Amino acid sequence: MQNGRNDIGREVARRRTFAIISHPDAGKTTLTEKLLLFGGALREAGAVRARRAQRHATSDWLEIEKQRGISVSSSAMHFVYGDFRVNILDTPGHRDFSEDTYRTLVAADSAVMLIDAAKGVEAQTRKLFEVCRLRGIPIFTFVNKMDRHGRDPLDLMGEIEDVLGIDAVALNWPVGTGNEFRGVYDRLGRCLQLFSGGNHGGSLVDEEDVPGAHDGEAVRAALGAARADELADALALLEGAGAGYDPARVRAGEQTPLFFGSALTNFGVKPFLERFLELAPPPGPRPSSRGPIDPATEPFSGFVFKIQANMDPDHRDRVAFVRICSGRFVRGATARHVRTGKTVRLANSTLLMGQGREEVSEAYPGDVVGLFDPGLFRIGDTLSESGGFAYEGFPVFAPEHFMRVELGLVERRKALAKGLEQLAQEGAVQLFTDGGNGSGTPIVGAVGPLQFDVLKHRMATEYKVDLRLTPMPHSVARWPRGAFDPEIVRHSQLVKLVHDREGRPVLLSESASYLERIAERHPGLALADTAIEHAT
Ligand code: G4P
Repeated sequence: MQNGRNDIGREVARRRTFAIISHPDAGKTTLTEKLLLFGGALREAGAVRARRAQRHATSDWLEIEKQRGISVSSSAMHFVYGDFRVNILDTPGHRDFSEDTYRTLVAADSAVMLIDAAKGVEAQTRKLFEVCRLRGIPIFTFVNKMDRHGRDPLDLMGEIEDVLGIDAVALNWPVGTGNEFRGVYDRLGRCLQLFSGGNHGGSLVDEEDVPGAHDGEAVRAALGAARADELADALALLEGAGAGYDPARVRAGEQTPLFFGSALTNFGVKPFLERFLELAPPPGPRPSSRGPIDPATEPFSGFVFKIQANMDPDHRDRVAFVRICSGRFVRGATARHVRTGKTVRLANSTLLMGQGREEVSEAYPGDVVGLFDPGLFRIGDTLSESGGFAYEGFPVFAPEHFMRVELGLVERRKALAKGLEQLAQEGAVQLFTDGGNGSGTPIVGAVGPLQFDVLKHRMATEYKVDLRLTPMPHSVARWPRGAFDPEIVRHSQLVKLVHDREGRPVLLSESASYLERIAERHPGLALADTAIEHAT
């Protein structure tokens, strides 16, 4: 066989697929850009930012992004570094999109948490971290902006541990901060890495490695006695502080390796990248209805984690992003679309690199391919050559905002129903019905209110429907599990019974405490704040 199991195993072992999470302005765009520069995927700094600006200017992406100046949609970027093939999945920057972020994290094998050294753990960092936690993937932390006067590195470490409830273990330690930030000491490699010549346009900086223990002669000579003593004290404190780096705990999401650097000046980015690639996990077995699926031995399979409509308004296309989980993806080959049992041809595959699209002819576990979607795909759908299993469905998060849809003009009702159904399928919004299964008034639910703006805009531009929404007072939704009798809420003024797209009952309320009381009164009943979207 030309491309056998061993070749696939080799391709799996060299892949690193991750997402970067951060509070806006912590430097995610800048870091991404520098990583791409190291990988030779970009020739000049500023290209990602320029592309972002161009994207708004040319309205290639959703119009709403342009209007709001935010990034609603995310893309995948890739590059080769040494022997590694790296895939960076871009997470949406806006706080309303934790559900989107979760989907991206399902497609990732690890996450990089970016923290601004002056600001520490910010609100959005916390929220995204919780989403990461839910997903249970290893999290690596990069403390950025060390070229500015920030907080004390030990304080920052303590804050990460206290606020996020995860052990932090510094794998490198900064030498100086602000203008005095001169390098990092690599604790695993026992080596001092000094930087010089960084510039803000920042292609690559000069680096000098000084091998040896932090209190050795060479390090003392390079730093001078005072700086060397300061470093020795800090490292002694770290040694004394307890647990060292433990790969098993990192894999379990209990410990986060910590790195210091400055994306803008390029200081510490390369040492971070190299250690990260060495320590971050390659694609592993994924749970499915048939048990864990091995990436190297199972033929091609993957799942849809994102659907993006109208990336090019001239073509009105939809692209389904597929994370490959096993085997070799070959363009033009066929695979089973497990939910419908249909055989689909893996044609028109594009790999997305920022805004540019390139055709791919083959890809491996960890890679993301975009497939032209004729309206068949849903988030969570499995594609598989053997067809014998489905990957686990995606959780749906309880919306916190609800709007009743006004039905309006009769002649647009069909377009309205189609638009709502398709946009719910894409995961842009959640759809419920008031009253019996599927027959009553539609209600849309969202985790963040901005999603309603996106919905209205897209209904107007894509389905020519002027969507009218009336706010509802509810802010809590729970899915009953176990013994649920609709009679118990039928006459309630405080709880409203609706159904989701799969016909499951959902209880809406203005306050979680009403629902808690119901659960207390009915011991066999559990009320869940997430549901699984069934792909089969
Ligand atoms: P984001 O994607 O996380 O929102 O952040 P982004 O990279 O856009 O960076 C936000 C701001 O922080 C930018 O400044 C950027 O230049 C700056 N920045 C990023 N990394 C570093 C760093 O390591 N050190 C310092 N000192 N600044 C950093 P801006 O003024 O908003 O934009 P610009 O004028 O630089 O384009």
